[in-house]
Amino acid sequence: MNDKLIIFDTTLRDGEQSPGASMTRDEKLRIARQLERMRVDVIEAGFAAASNGDFESVRAIAEAIKESTVCSLARANENDIRRAGEAIRPAARGRIHTFIATSPIHMEKKLRMSPDEVVAQAVKAIGWAKEYTDDIEFSAEDAGRSEIDFLCRIFEAVINAGATTINVPDTVGYNVPEQFAATIATLIERVPNSDKVVWSVHCHNDLGLAVANSLAAVRAGARQVECTVNGLGERAGNASLEEVVMAVRTRRDVFQCDTGIDTTQIVPASKLVSGVTGFPVQPNKAIVGANAFAHESGIHQDGVLKHRETYEIMRAEDVGWGANKLVLGKHSGRNAFRSRLQELGIEVESEEHLNHAFARFKELADKKHEIFDEDLHALMSDEAITPALEHFRLLSSRFRSETGERPEAEIALAVGGEEIRTCAHGSGPVDAAFKAIESVANSGTDLLLYSVNAITTGTDAQGEVTVRLARDGRVVNGQGADTDIIVASAKAYLNALNKLHSKFERVNPQV
Ligand code: KIV
Ligand code: ZN
Repeated sequence: MNDKLIIFDTTLRDGEQSPGASMTRDEKLRIARQLERMRVDVIEAGFAAASNGDFESVRAIAEAIKESTVCSLARANENDIRRAGEAIRPAARGRIHTFIATSPIHMEKKLRMSPDEVVAQAVKAIGWAKEYTDDIEFSAEDAGRSEIDFLCRIFEAVINAGATTINVPDTVGYNVPEQFAATIATLIERVPNSDKVVWSVHCHNDLGLAVANSLAAVRAGARQVECTVNGLGERAGNASLEEVVMAVRTRRDVFQCDTGIDTTQIVPASKLVSGVTGFPVQPNKAIVGANAFAHESGIHQDGVLKHRETYEIMRAEDVGWGANKLVLGKHSGRNAFRSRLQELGIEVESEEHLNHAFARFKELADKKHEIFDEDLHALMSDEAITPALEHFRLLSSRFRSETGERPEAEIALAVGGEEIRTCAHGSGPVDAAFKAIESVANSGTDLLLYSVNAITTGTDAQGEVTVRLARDGRVVNGQGADTDIIVASAKAYLNALNKLHSKFERVNPQV
Protein backbone atom coordinates (compact mmCIF):
# COMPACT_ATOMS: atom_id res chain seq x y z
CA MET A 1 0.00 0.00 0.00
CA ASN A 2 1.13 3.56 -0.76
CA ASP A 3 2.93 4.94 2.30
CA LYS A 4 2.56 8.67 1.49
CA LEU A 5 -0.28 10.43 3.29
CA ILE A 6 -1.33 13.55 1.39
CA ILE A 7 -2.07 16.57 3.58
CA PHE A 8 -4.82 18.74 2.13
CA ASP A 9 -5.12 21.94 4.13
CA THR A 10 -8.44 23.76 4.07
CA THR A 11 -7.69 26.50 6.63
CA LEU A 12 -8.29 29.13 3.94
CA ARG A 13 -11.63 27.67 2.88
CA ASP A 14 -13.40 25.57 5.53
CA GLY A 15 -11.32 27.29 8.24
CA GLU A 16 -12.50 30.67 7.06
CA GLN A 17 -16.09 29.45 7.44
CA SER A 18 -15.65 29.67 11.25
CA PRO A 19 -17.87 32.56 12.29
CA GLY A 20 -15.60 35.57 12.71
CA ALA A 21 -12.55 34.06 10.99
CA SER A 22 -12.74 36.06 7.77
CA MET A 23 -9.38 36.92 6.22
CA THR A 24 -8.19 39.44 3.67
CA ARG A 25 -6.49 38.43 0.46
CA ASP A 26 -3.07 39.48 1.84
CA GLU A 27 -3.61 37.52 5.05
CA LYS A 28 -4.58 34.47 3.03
CA LEU A 29 -1.45 34.87 0.93
CA ARG A 30 0.70 35.03 4.05
CA ILE A 31 -0.91 31.88 5.42
CA ALA A 32 -0.60 30.12 2.04
CA ARG A 33 3.14 30.91 1.97
CA GLN A 34 3.52 29.44 5.47
CA LEU A 35 1.58 26.32 4.38
CA GLU A 36 3.91 25.95 1.41
CA ARG A 37 6.91 26.34 3.74
CA MET A 38 5.41 23.59 5.90
CA ARG A 39 5.22 21.46 2.69
CA VAL A 40 1.48 20.97 2.69
CA ASP A 41 0.63 18.95 -0.45
CA VAL A 42 -2.64 20.68 -1.37
CA ILE A 43 -3.80 24.13 -0.28
CA GLU A 44 -7.54 24.70 -0.64
CA ALA A 45 -7.29 28.43 -1.23
CA GLY A 46 -11.00 29.27 -1.20
CA PHE A 47 -14.31 29.02 -2.96
CA ALA A 48 -13.76 31.07 -6.10
CA ALA A 49 -17.45 31.46 -6.99
CA ALA A 50 -18.44 32.69 -3.52
CA SER A 51 -17.49 36.32 -4.15
CA ASN A 52 -15.09 38.45 -6.17
CA GLY A 53 -12.89 38.68 -3.07
CA ASP A 54 -12.66 34.90 -2.90
CA PHE A 55 -11.89 34.64 -6.60
CA GLU A 56 -9.09 37.23 -6.25
CA SER A 57 -7.64 35.42 -3.23
CA VAL A 58 -7.58 32.02 -4.95
CA ARG A 59 -6.01 33.58 -8.00
CA ALA A 60 -3.34 35.46 -6.02
CA ILE A 61 -2.44 32.25 -4.18
CA ALA A 62 -2.35 30.30 -7.46
CA GLU A 63 0.10 32.89 -8.81
CA ALA A 64 2.34 32.93 -5.73
CA ILE A 65 2.57 29.27 -4.68
CA LYS A 66 4.97 27.04 -6.59
CA GLU A 67 5.46 23.89 -4.51
CA SER A 68 1.98 22.96 -3.25
CA THR A 69 -1.06 22.19 -5.40
CA VAL A 70 -3.56 25.07 -5.23
CA CYS A 71 -7.21 24.08 -5.15
CA SER A 72 -10.54 25.87 -5.36
CA LEU A 73 -13.83 24.49 -4.11
CA ALA A 74 -16.83 24.53 -6.50
CA ARG A 75 -20.39 23.27 -6.23
CA ALA A 76 -21.26 20.81 -8.99
CA ASN A 77 -22.59 23.46 -11.34
CA GLU A 78 -21.12 24.99 -14.45
CA ASN A 79 -20.70 28.54 -13.14
CA ASP A 80 -18.89 27.48 -9.95
CA ILE A 81 -16.59 25.17 -11.83
CA ARG A 82 -15.70 27.74 -14.48
CA ARG A 83 -14.93 30.33 -11.76
CA ALA A 84 -12.75 27.79 -9.96
CA GLY A 85 -11.03 26.84 -13.21
CA GLU A 86 -10.26 30.49 -14.05
CA ALA A 87 -9.01 31.20 -10.54
CA ILE A 88 -6.52 28.31 -10.48
CA ARG A 89 -5.33 28.85 -14.06
CA PRO A 90 -2.00 30.50 -13.06
CA ALA A 91 -1.09 27.69 -10.63
CA ALA A 92 1.95 25.50 -11.24
CA ARG A 93 -0.33 22.67 -10.11
CA GLY A 94 -4.05 23.38 -9.83
CA ARG A 95 -6.96 21.29 -8.59
CA ILE A 96 -10.73 21.72 -8.80
CA HIS A 97 -12.65 20.28 -5.86
CA THR A 98 -16.29 19.84 -6.74
CA PHE A 99 -19.01 18.56 -4.44
CA ILE A 100 -22.66 17.62 -4.28
CA ALA A 101 -24.70 16.25 -1.38
CA THR A 102 -25.48 12.53 -1.33
CA SER A 103 -27.38 11.85 1.91
CA PRO A 104 -31.14 11.24 1.62
CA ILE A 105 -31.91 14.25 3.81
CA HIS A 106 -29.69 16.63 1.80
CA MET A 107 -30.86 15.36 -1.60
CA GLU A 108 -34.52 15.52 -0.68
CA LYS A 109 -34.76 18.60 1.54
CA LYS A 110 -31.87 20.80 0.34
CA LEU A 111 -31.18 19.96 -3.30
CA ARG A 112 -34.69 18.68 -4.10
CA MET A 113 -33.08 16.31 -6.58
CA SER A 114 -33.52 12.58 -7.09
CA PRO A 115 -30.51 10.28 -6.63
CA ASP A 116 -30.38 9.77 -10.43
CA GLU A 117 -30.26 13.53 -10.99
CA VAL A 118 -27.47 13.88 -8.40
CA VAL A 119 -25.31 11.25 -10.13
CA ALA A 120 -25.92 12.88 -13.54
CA GLN A 121 -25.01 16.33 -12.17
CA ALA A 122 -21.83 15.02 -10.52
CA VAL A 123 -20.70 13.40 -13.78
CA LYS A 124 -21.40 16.62 -15.71
CA ALA A 125 -19.39 18.56 -13.12
CA ILE A 126 -16.33 16.38 -13.70
CA GLY A 127 -16.70 17.02 -17.44
CA TRP A 128 -16.61 20.81 -16.95
CA ALA A 129 -13.67 20.55 -14.53
CA LYS A 130 -11.69 18.48 -17.07
CA GLU A 131 -11.63 21.49 -19.39
CA TYR A 132 -9.30 23.18 -16.83
CA THR A 133 -7.21 20.49 -15.11
CA ASP A 134 -6.61 16.76 -14.83
CA ASP A 135 -6.46 17.04 -11.04
CA ILE A 136 -10.11 16.76 -9.98
CA GLU A 137 -11.44 15.98 -6.55
CA PHE A 138 -15.02 14.92 -5.99
CA SER A 139 -16.70 15.14 -2.57
CA ALA A 140 -19.98 13.52 -1.58
CA GLU A 141 -21.23 16.10 0.90
CA ASP A 142 -22.70 14.48 4.03
CA ALA A 143 -21.21 11.14 2.99
CA GLY A 144 -21.14 10.31 6.70
CA ARG A 145 -24.96 10.00 6.61
CA SER A 146 -25.29 8.66 3.06
CA GLU A 147 -26.27 5.14 1.99
CA ILE A 148 -23.27 3.01 1.16
CA ASP A 149 -24.85 1.60 -2.04
CA PHE A 150 -25.49 5.09 -3.34
CA LEU A 151 -21.95 6.21 -2.46
CA CYS A 152 -20.52 3.22 -4.37
CA ARG A 153 -22.68 4.12 -7.37
CA ILE A 154 -21.82 7.82 -7.53
CA PHE A 155 -18.11 7.27 -6.85
CA GLU A 156 -17.83 4.66 -9.61
CA ALA A 157 -19.52 7.09 -12.01
CA VAL A 158 -17.32 10.10 -11.20
CA ILE A 159 -14.13 8.01 -11.33
CA ASN A 160 -15.15 6.81 -14.79
CA ALA A 161 -15.77 10.46 -15.71
CA GLY A 162 -12.22 11.47 -14.65
CA ALA A 163 -12.14 12.30 -10.91
CA THR A 164 -8.70 11.57 -9.45
CA THR A 165 -9.39 12.03 -5.72
CA ILE A 166 -12.54 10.85 -3.96
CA ASN A 167 -13.30 12.63 -0.73
CA VAL A 168 -15.62 11.20 1.91
CA PRO A 169 -16.72 14.03 4.23
CA ASP A 170 -18.33 13.57 7.58
CA THR A 171 -19.91 16.96 7.06
CA VAL A 172 -21.88 17.10 10.30
CA GLY A 173 -19.37 15.26 12.52
CA TYR A 174 -21.78 12.36 13.14
CA ASN A 175 -19.51 9.36 12.67
CA VAL A 176 -17.46 7.37 15.18
CA PRO A 177 -14.05 5.88 14.38
CA GLU A 178 -14.83 2.16 13.89
CA GLN A 179 -17.89 2.94 11.79
CA PHE A 180 -16.11 5.54 9.66
CA ALA A 181 -13.15 3.20 9.09
CA ALA A 182 -15.59 0.47 8.00
CA THR A 183 -17.20 2.89 5.51
CA ILE A 184 -13.83 3.69 3.95
CA ALA A 185 -12.77 0.04 3.81
CA THR A 186 -16.10 -0.95 2.20
CA LEU A 187 -15.88 1.80 -0.41
CA ILE A 188 -12.32 0.86 -1.38
CA GLU A 189 -13.36 -2.79 -1.63
CA ARG A 190 -16.67 -2.37 -3.42
CA VAL A 191 -16.12 0.49 -5.88
CA PRO A 192 -14.80 -1.41 -8.92
CA ASN A 193 -12.40 1.34 -10.09
CA SER A 194 -11.29 2.38 -6.58
CA ASP A 195 -7.64 1.69 -7.38
CA LYS A 196 -7.61 4.59 -9.92
CA VAL A 197 -8.00 7.31 -7.26
CA VAL A 198 -6.68 8.59 -3.96
CA TRP A 199 -9.21 8.12 -1.15
CA SER A 200 -9.59 11.15 1.07
CA VAL A 201 -11.48 12.06 4.24
CA HIS A 202 -12.78 15.36 5.61
CA CYS A 203 -14.07 15.14 9.17
CA HIS A 204 -15.85 17.74 11.27
CA ASN A 205 -15.42 17.89 15.00
CA ASP A 206 -18.99 18.18 16.34
CA LEU A 207 -18.48 15.21 18.66
CA GLY A 208 -14.77 15.92 19.18
CA LEU A 209 -13.93 12.94 16.93
CA ALA A 210 -12.58 14.61 13.78
CA VAL A 211 -8.96 13.57 14.32
CA ALA A 212 -9.89 10.09 15.61
CA ASN A 213 -12.18 9.51 12.60
CA SER A 214 -9.53 10.75 10.16
CA LEU A 215 -6.87 8.50 11.67
CA ALA A 216 -9.22 5.49 11.67
CA ALA A 217 -9.83 6.18 7.97
CA VAL A 218 -6.08 6.24 7.32
CA ARG A 219 -5.80 2.80 8.93
CA ALA A 220 -8.57 1.67 6.56
CA GLY A 221 -6.72 2.91 3.46
CA ALA A 222 -7.43 6.65 3.05
CA ARG A 223 -4.33 8.39 1.72
CA GLN A 224 -5.42 12.03 1.89
CA VAL A 225 -6.62 13.82 5.03
CA GLU A 226 -8.31 17.19 4.83
CA CYS A 227 -7.53 19.28 7.87
CA THR A 228 -6.91 22.79 9.15
CA VAL A 229 -4.31 24.57 11.26
CA ASN A 230 -5.50 24.69 14.90
CA GLY A 231 -8.58 22.66 13.84
CA LEU A 232 -10.32 25.81 12.61
CA GLY A 233 -13.52 25.30 10.58
CA GLU A 234 -17.32 25.35 10.41
CA ARG A 235 -18.98 25.04 13.86
CA ALA A 236 -16.69 22.87 16.04
CA GLY A 237 -14.07 22.85 13.29
CA ASN A 238 -12.21 20.31 11.19
CA ALA A 239 -9.56 17.72 12.01
CA SER A 240 -6.51 19.56 13.27
CA LEU A 241 -3.54 19.37 10.90
CA GLU A 242 -0.94 19.33 13.66
CA GLU A 243 -2.62 16.46 15.51
CA VAL A 244 -3.07 14.31 12.40
CA VAL A 245 0.50 14.95 11.21
CA MET A 246 2.12 14.30 14.59
CA ALA A 247 0.00 11.21 15.32
CA VAL A 248 1.06 9.65 12.03
CA ARG A 249 4.70 10.72 12.47
CA THR A 250 4.94 9.55 16.09
CA ARG A 251 3.09 6.28 15.45
CA ARG A 252 4.40 5.26 12.03
CA ASP A 253 4.38 1.73 13.40
CA VAL A 254 0.57 1.89 13.62
CA PHE A 255 -0.28 3.92 10.52
CA GLN A 256 2.28 2.47 8.09
CA CYS A 257 2.52 5.79 6.25
CA ASP A 258 3.90 9.30 6.73
CA THR A 259 3.38 12.84 5.47
CA GLY A 260 5.89 15.12 3.75
CA ILE A 261 5.27 17.90 6.31
CA ASP A 262 8.18 19.90 7.74
CA THR A 263 6.94 19.65 11.31
CA THR A 264 9.23 22.45 12.56
CA GLN A 265 6.88 24.86 10.75
CA ILE A 266 3.81 23.72 12.71
CA VAL A 267 4.03 26.14 15.65
CA PRO A 268 4.81 29.17 13.44
CA ALA A 269 1.79 28.22 11.28
CA SER A 270 -0.41 27.89 14.35
CA LYS A 271 0.68 31.30 15.65
CA LEU A 272 0.15 32.94 12.30
CA VAL A 273 -3.37 31.53 11.89
CA SER A 274 -4.28 32.38 15.46
CA GLY A 275 -2.99 35.96 15.05
CA VAL A 276 -4.76 36.55 11.73
CA THR A 277 -8.11 35.10 12.78
CA GLY A 278 -8.07 36.27 16.40
CA PHE A 279 -8.88 32.70 17.52
CA PRO A 280 -6.59 31.98 20.48
CA VAL A 281 -5.17 28.49 20.94
CA GLN A 282 -6.23 26.90 24.23
CA PRO A 283 -3.16 26.30 26.46
CA ASN A 284 -3.75 22.54 26.73
CA LYS A 285 -4.29 22.04 22.98
CA ALA A 286 -2.21 19.10 21.73
CA ILE A 287 1.03 20.03 19.91
CA VAL A 288 0.49 23.80 19.63
CA GLY A 289 -0.96 24.76 23.04
CA ALA A 290 1.38 26.75 25.30
CA ASN A 291 1.35 23.90 27.86
CA ALA A 292 1.68 21.04 25.38
CA PHE A 293 5.29 20.42 26.44
CA ALA A 294 5.25 22.00 29.92
CA HIS A 295 5.81 19.59 32.79
CA GLU A 296 4.36 20.94 36.01
CA SER A 297 4.45 18.02 38.44
CA GLY A 298 7.73 17.48 40.30
CA ILE A 299 7.73 13.77 39.46
CA HIS A 300 7.40 14.52 35.75
CA GLN A 301 10.05 17.26 35.83
CA ASP A 302 12.45 14.95 37.63
CA GLY A 303 11.80 12.18 35.10
CA VAL A 304 12.26 14.45 32.08
CA LEU A 305 15.51 15.85 33.51
CA LYS A 306 16.85 12.33 34.03
CA HIS A 307 15.70 11.03 30.66
CA ARG A 308 13.48 13.05 28.33
CA GLU A 309 11.54 10.10 26.98
CA THR A 310 10.20 9.16 30.43
CA TYR A 311 7.36 11.64 29.87
CA GLU A 312 7.78 13.00 26.32
CA ILE A 313 6.74 11.20 23.15
CA MET A 314 7.70 14.10 20.85
CA ARG A 315 10.36 16.80 21.01
CA ALA A 316 9.08 20.35 21.35
CA GLU A 317 11.72 21.57 18.89
CA ASP A 318 10.50 19.08 16.25
CA VAL A 319 7.15 20.88 16.04
CA GLY A 320 8.70 24.35 16.07
CA TRP A 321 8.71 25.26 19.75
CA GLY A 322 11.80 26.90 21.15
CA ALA A 323 11.83 29.59 18.51
CA ASN A 324 11.47 32.11 21.35
CA LYS A 325 15.19 32.73 21.32
CA LEU A 326 17.11 35.95 21.31
CA VAL A 327 17.94 36.74 17.73
CA LEU A 328 18.69 40.41 17.34
CA GLY A 329 19.26 43.49 19.42
CA LYS A 330 19.72 47.23 19.23
CA HIS A 331 23.15 46.91 17.65
CA SER A 332 22.22 44.38 14.99
CA GLY A 333 22.82 45.61 11.47
CA ARG A 334 20.74 45.55 8.34
CA ASN A 335 22.37 42.38 7.05
CA ALA A 336 21.69 40.47 10.25
CA PHE A 337 18.08 41.68 10.06
CA ARG A 338 17.75 40.64 6.43
CA SER A 339 19.26 37.21 6.96
CA ARG A 340 17.07 36.47 10.00
CA LEU A 341 14.00 37.36 7.93
CA GLN A 342 15.23 34.98 5.23
CA GLU A 343 15.76 32.20 7.80
CA LEU A 344 12.20 32.75 9.01
CA GLY A 345 10.96 32.54 5.42
CA ILE A 346 9.59 36.10 5.53
CA GLU A 347 9.73 37.67 2.10
CA VAL A 348 10.70 41.31 1.58
CA GLU A 349 9.46 42.70 -1.71
CA SER A 350 12.15 45.36 -2.37
CA GLU A 351 15.15 47.19 -0.91
CA GLU A 352 12.82 50.06 -0.06
CA HIS A 353 10.56 47.69 1.86
CA LEU A 354 13.60 46.26 3.68
CA ASN A 355 14.82 49.75 4.62
CA HIS A 356 11.41 50.68 5.96
CA ALA A 357 11.11 47.48 7.96
CA PHE A 358 14.66 47.91 9.28
CA ALA A 359 13.88 51.45 10.49
CA ARG A 360 10.86 50.06 12.37
CA PHE A 361 13.01 47.27 13.78
CA LYS A 362 15.45 49.88 15.15
CA GLU A 363 12.59 51.81 16.77
CA LEU A 364 11.40 48.59 18.41
CA ALA A 365 14.92 47.67 19.54
CA ASP A 366 15.18 51.06 21.24
CA LYS A 367 12.10 50.28 23.31
CA LYS A 368 12.71 46.58 23.79
CA HIS A 369 16.34 45.54 23.90
CA GLU A 370 15.93 41.89 23.02
CA ILE A 371 14.12 41.08 19.81
CA PHE A 372 12.76 37.55 19.37
CA ASP A 373 11.52 35.74 16.27
CA GLU A 374 7.93 36.35 17.35
CA ASP A 375 8.62 40.11 17.46
CA LEU A 376 9.92 39.95 13.90
CA HIS A 377 6.80 38.08 12.76
CA ALA A 378 4.58 40.75 14.37
CA LEU A 379 6.64 43.58 12.92
CA MET A 380 6.53 42.10 9.43
CA SER A 381 2.76 41.46 9.70
CA ASP A 382 2.35 45.15 10.35
CA GLU A 383 4.68 45.89 7.43
CA ALA A 384 2.48 43.72 5.20
CA ILE A 385 -0.31 46.28 5.48
CA THR A 386 -0.22 47.96 2.10
CA PRO A 387 -0.32 51.76 2.38
CA ALA A 388 -2.94 51.75 -0.40
CA LEU A 389 -5.30 49.90 1.95
CA GLU A 390 -4.59 52.21 4.87
CA HIS A 391 -7.38 54.72 4.86
CA PHE A 392 -6.86 55.35 8.60
CA ARG A 393 -3.34 55.59 10.04
CA LEU A 394 -2.17 56.32 13.56
CA LEU A 395 0.19 59.31 13.57
CA SER A 396 0.62 59.88 17.29
CA SER A 397 -1.14 59.29 20.56
CA ARG A 398 -1.17 60.39 24.20
CA PHE A 399 -3.06 58.62 26.95
CA ARG A 400 -3.78 59.80 30.50
CA SER A 401 -4.86 57.38 33.19
CA GLU A 402 -4.73 58.59 36.78
CA THR A 403 -6.33 57.34 40.00
CA GLY A 404 -9.63 59.16 40.53
CA GLU A 405 -9.61 60.73 37.04
CA ARG A 406 -11.48 59.62 33.89
CA PRO A 407 -8.96 58.13 31.43
CA GLU A 408 -8.40 60.25 28.33
CA ALA A 409 -6.97 59.62 24.87
CA GLU A 410 -5.63 62.21 22.44
CA ILE A 411 -5.02 60.79 19.01
CA ALA A 412 -3.73 62.17 15.72
CA LEU A 413 -4.88 60.21 12.69
CA ALA A 414 -4.25 60.41 8.97
CA VAL A 415 -7.64 59.86 7.35
CA GLY A 416 -7.42 59.48 3.59
CA GLY A 417 -4.23 61.57 3.72
CA GLU A 418 -5.68 64.37 5.89
CA GLU A 419 -4.43 64.84 9.45
CA ILE A 420 -7.17 64.91 12.11
CA ARG A 421 -6.70 65.34 15.88
CA THR A 422 -9.24 63.93 18.27
CA CYS A 423 -9.74 63.42 21.98
CA ALA A 424 -12.15 61.37 24.13
CA HIS A 425 -12.72 60.02 27.63
CA GLY A 426 -13.53 56.42 28.41
CA SER A 427 -13.95 53.93 31.21
CA GLY A 428 -10.32 52.92 30.64
CA PRO A 429 -7.54 54.09 28.30
CA VAL A 430 -8.41 51.48 25.63
CA ASP A 431 -12.06 52.51 25.73
CA ALA A 432 -11.00 56.16 25.48
CA ALA A 433 -8.75 55.37 22.49
CA PHE A 434 -11.54 53.54 20.64
CA LYS A 435 -14.01 56.35 21.40
CA ALA A 436 -11.55 58.94 20.11
CA ILE A 437 -11.09 56.97 16.87
CA GLU A 438 -14.84 56.45 16.51
CA SER A 439 -15.50 60.18 16.93
CA VAL A 440 -13.68 60.56 13.60
CA ALA A 441 -14.51 57.28 11.84
CA ASN A 442 -18.23 57.01 12.77
CA SER A 443 -18.00 53.46 11.52
CA GLY A 444 -21.32 52.17 12.88
CA THR A 445 -19.63 48.87 13.77
CA ASP A 446 -20.18 46.49 16.69
CA LEU A 447 -17.12 45.37 18.64
CA LEU A 448 -17.36 41.56 18.81
CA LEU A 449 -13.98 40.77 20.32
CA TYR A 450 -11.07 42.49 21.99
CA SER A 451 -8.13 40.34 23.08
CA VAL A 452 -4.54 41.00 24.16
CA ASN A 453 -1.70 38.48 24.18
CA ALA A 454 1.93 38.93 25.11
CA ILE A 455 4.01 37.99 22.07
CA THR A 456 6.99 36.92 24.17
CA THR A 457 7.71 36.74 27.89
CA GLY A 458 8.77 39.60 30.18
CA THR A 459 7.20 42.92 31.05
CA ASP A 460 8.88 44.59 28.07
CA ALA A 461 7.13 42.15 25.69
CA GLN A 462 5.03 43.47 22.84
CA GLY A 463 1.30 43.10 23.32
CA GLU A 464 -0.55 41.72 20.31
CA VAL A 465 -4.13 42.91 20.17
CA THR A 466 -6.97 41.49 18.08
CA VAL A 467 -10.15 43.48 17.51
CA ARG A 468 -13.15 41.94 15.72
CA LEU A 469 -15.69 44.36 14.25
CA ALA A 470 -18.98 43.68 12.50
CA ARG A 471 -21.09 45.88 10.26
CA ASP A 472 -24.08 44.81 8.16
CA GLY A 473 -23.21 41.13 8.54
CA ARG A 474 -19.61 41.67 7.53
CA VAL A 475 -16.97 40.63 10.08
CA VAL A 476 -13.31 41.69 10.10
CA ASN A 477 -10.36 41.06 12.41
CA GLY A 478 -7.77 43.76 13.04
CA GLN A 479 -4.34 43.18 14.59
CA GLY A 480 -1.83 45.52 16.16
CA ALA A 481 1.40 44.97 18.10
CA ASP A 482 3.38 47.36 20.27
CA THR A 483 5.24 47.43 23.58
CA ASP A 484 2.48 49.81 24.70
CA ILE A 485 -0.77 47.82 24.68
CA ILE A 486 -2.94 50.93 24.35
CA VAL A 487 -1.06 51.84 21.16
CA ALA A 488 -1.35 48.19 20.02
CA SER A 489 -5.11 48.41 20.67
CA ALA A 490 -5.48 51.62 18.66
CA LYS A 491 -3.50 50.07 15.79
CA ALA A 492 -5.67 46.92 15.88
CA TYR A 493 -8.86 49.00 15.82
CA LEU A 494 -7.61 51.05 12.87
CA ASN A 495 -6.47 47.88 11.09
CA ALA A 496 -10.01 46.46 11.39
CA LEU A 497 -11.53 49.74 10.13
CA ASN A 498 -9.13 49.70 7.15
CA LYS A 499 -10.27 46.20 6.28
CA LEU A 500 -13.90 47.27 6.37
CA HIS A 501 -12.93 50.11 4.11
CA SER A 502 -11.10 47.84 1.66
CA LYS A 503 -12.78 46.35 -1.37
CA PHE A 504 -10.65 43.20 -1.08
CA GLU A 505 -12.35 41.99 2.06
CA ARG A 506 -14.71 39.05 1.71
CA VAL A 507 -18.27 40.23 2.11
CA ASN A 508 -19.64 37.20 3.88
CA PRO A 509 -17.57 34.27 5.08
CA GLN A 510 -20.44 31.82 4.63
CA VAL A 511 -21.69 30.71 1.24
O1 KIV B 1 -17.86 19.48 5.23
C1 KIV B 1 -18.00 19.29 4.00
O2 KIV B 1 -18.75 18.43 3.54
C2 KIV B 1 -17.24 20.14 3.11
C3 KIV B 1 -17.22 19.72 1.69
C4 KIV B 1 -17.44 20.86 0.78
C5 KIV B 1 -15.97 18.96 1.40
O3 KIV B 1 -16.61 21.09 3.54
ZN1 ZN C 1 -16.26 20.86 5.73
